[in-house]
Amino acid sequence: MTVNSSQLTVENLLTVDCQLLTGVAESRWLRTEADMTSLQGKVAFVTGGSRGIGLAIARALVAEGVQVTVTGKDEARLSAARPRIESAGPALVETLRADVRSYAEVERAIGATAARFGGLDFIINNAGVGIFADVADMTPAQWSEVIDTNLTGVFHVCHAAIPHLRKRGGGFIINISSLAGKHAFTSAAAYCASKSGLNAFSEALMQEVRYDNIRVSYVMPGSVATGFSGGDESKGADWKISSEDVAGVVLSLLRHNPRSLPSRVELRPSKPRK
Ligand SMILES: NC(=O)c1ccc[n+]([C@@H]2O[C@H](COP(=O)([O-])OP(=O)(O)OC[C@H]3O[C@@H](n4cnc5c(N)ncnc54)[C@H](OP(=O)(O)O)[C@@H]3O)[C@@H](O)[C@H]2O)c1
Repeated sequence: MTVNSSQLTVENLLTVDCQLLTGVAESRWLRTEADMTSLQGKVAFVTGGSRGIGLAIARALVAEGVQVTVTGKDEARLSAARPRIESAGPALVETLRADVRSYAEVERAIGATAARFGGLDFIINNAGVGIFADVADMTPAQWSEVIDTNLTGVFHVCHAAIPHLRKRGGGFIINISSLAGKHAFTSAAAYCASKSGLNAFSEALMQEVRYDNIRVSYVMPGSVATGFSGGDESKGADWKISSEDVAGVVLSLLRHNPRSLPSRVELRPSKPRK
């Protein structure tokens, strides 16, 4: 409402006053709600947290006081990542070798996390691989590696984790997908199919578990400056999304008022290379 000086009657002033007060009350209420969604003391399980986006997510969570288990395939990379995650904040950190393609390894890691930290609240399905080749040139083993990691791996983690989240009275599952799940491109059939499948999986799961107070969202980043698929993480770092940007989206989803759910987030570089 805009009021010019000729309209400054007592009635108008009262209306303006009331609107201002309502605005103040609303913003106070919003702040209180935001404070209520403090993440301190929660427990998170982050797959593929030894480098790239998963490492940034783990660090961001620990900085918020969330106790975190990160998984990966490579023991040496996990050991190198551990002090980098621990230095981000005061919360406890666990690193566990678990290949998401193996249900037995995933189940063991989820169980160990719940036992160590007393439960489980957040699942971040981030582990992923990219093998890029035309269908005619891609081997069946390469196809399986992509689908088994990016899609079946997420099923493994969710299947093992949901009973723990239910026991806790709720939780949040965030799946790191990709814009490639929406925009298919050549030499990427397996990767695009895995992420497109992950999007559909996430939406079905979201509807299955929402009345258990378990929220499910998926994030679809464009190009992120990491060493993904053997790339050089410094290349394009000036225009690509940073891992920390993706971690910021994950944190804001976790903090989002549970009354509503941003179930799908598309995240792209603001100024992609022309
Ligand atoms: N970078 C991008 O441009 C981009 C864009 C959109 C979406 N994404 C998605 O974001 C996620 C993370 O990508 P990133 O760029 O951070 O990749 P990254 O730097 O290559 O890191 C991948 C992480 O996943 C782990 N991992 C791979 N296979 C695994 C398995 N079978 N079991 C357990 N852990 C496994 C790796 O651990 P090891 O080293 O031990 O294998 C590593 O910690 C992926 O899902 C990717 O598809 C990336």
